[in-house]
Amino acid sequence: MQSSLAIRPETVHDYAAIADLHACAFGNRSHEPMVVTLLRHRAAFDPELSLVADRDGRVVGHVLFSPHTIRLLGHVVRAVNLAPIAVEPARQGQGIGGALIEEGHRIARARGYAVSFLLGHSSYYPRFGYRTRAYGWSQVTVVTEGLTAERLEVQAPRPDDIDPLGVLWRQAEAEVDFAIEPGPDLLDWISPNPAIEALVYRRDGEVVGYTRIHRSEPAEHLSGPRRGGGEGDGRRHCSTGRSRRGDAHSTDTSCRCFGRELPGCDHRSLGSSDGGAPDRKSAARLSGVGGKRATPARDGGVARGV
Ligand SMILES: CC(C)(COP(=O)(O)OP(=O)(O)OC[C@H]1O[C@@H](n2cnc3c(N)ncnc32)[C@H](O)[C@@H]1OP(=O)(O)O)[C@@H](O)C(=O)NCCC(=O)NCCS
Repeated sequence: MQSSLAIRPETVHDYAAIADLHACAFGNRSHEPMVVTLLRHRAAFDPELSLVADRDGRVVGHVLFSPHTIRLLGHVVRAVNLAPIAVEPARQGQGIGGALIEEGHRIARARGYAVSFLLGHSSYYPRFGYRTRAYGWSQVTVVTEGLTAERLEVQAPRPDDIDPLGVLWRQAEAEVDFAIEPGPDLLDWISPNPAIEALVYRRDGEVVGYTRIHRSEPAEHLSGPRRGGGEGDGRRHCSTGRSRRGDAHSTDTSCRCFGRELPGCDHRSLGSSDGGAPDRKSAARLSGVGGKRATPARDGGVARGV
């Protein structure tokens, strides 16, 4: 009997198989199954964009495209974030990953999404139209001089922080070319990755900042590239996102425009296929803590229009 592969939206009956698949494909880490579970709880979650590869009734692959509103080159557009994707290790290299991605693009385009973006293998996604280095580092300079622990309260985001955080976010990201508009859910301000810690900063009861920092590398992310003397000058540099310039096999940020609705969003203005940094500002999830904004670094990015 010939086996058949079907790409279809997930159902609740697939949840356990999808969790096992991600745990297995990502080296028995529990992070990815948790990420999928958390992303399913977002108000914007669309089950039609959570696709399984079904071989004779068995789940052998899964991809999730999560809806977001983003600001891209001056346009507010509906976009999807591709993450995560996994194929059963024994069946990798048979086109299953590609079939999941192409079907996801087809559905996303039909549902009116203009762009797909991701953080992933920089040599895998370009074959599906993604442009690398579409977005990357975002950095702020935080003036810590005169800022005492008594005055700055640091805590995990709470529901009543969401409105002031939204205001802060829009101010901080007003001039970047690629920024996610966080939604109204607390989950939009907490990374689904348990290794990333989200913190809100209050001064005299007022929300003045927000950071997302990798728990295992807090010093690196807090200090970032040194400018003008680094921490010694009473400032700290915060950044999110990482990419390794020039490494063909590195993890990178990518974006694919679906094209027609977005004047200016084409392969000349978005991302890069040759490893060169695009001449544009970049964005990531970070807002300033009562300090002034530094120039965003021109690093990172893979992108595609669906
Ligand atoms: C990445 C993954 C989803 C691809 O699925 P797949 O079904 O094996 O992919 P396809 O069969 O469509 O494509 C195979 C091609 O992708 C390439 N490829 C697979 N993984 C790759 C990677 N990590 N980086 C670069 N290329 C990769 C293969 O070399 C092969 O190339 P070829 O066609 O030139 O021989 C799968 O390898 C997987 O589950 N990996 C573990 C989980 C993971 O890393 N997910 C992605 C996180 S960004």
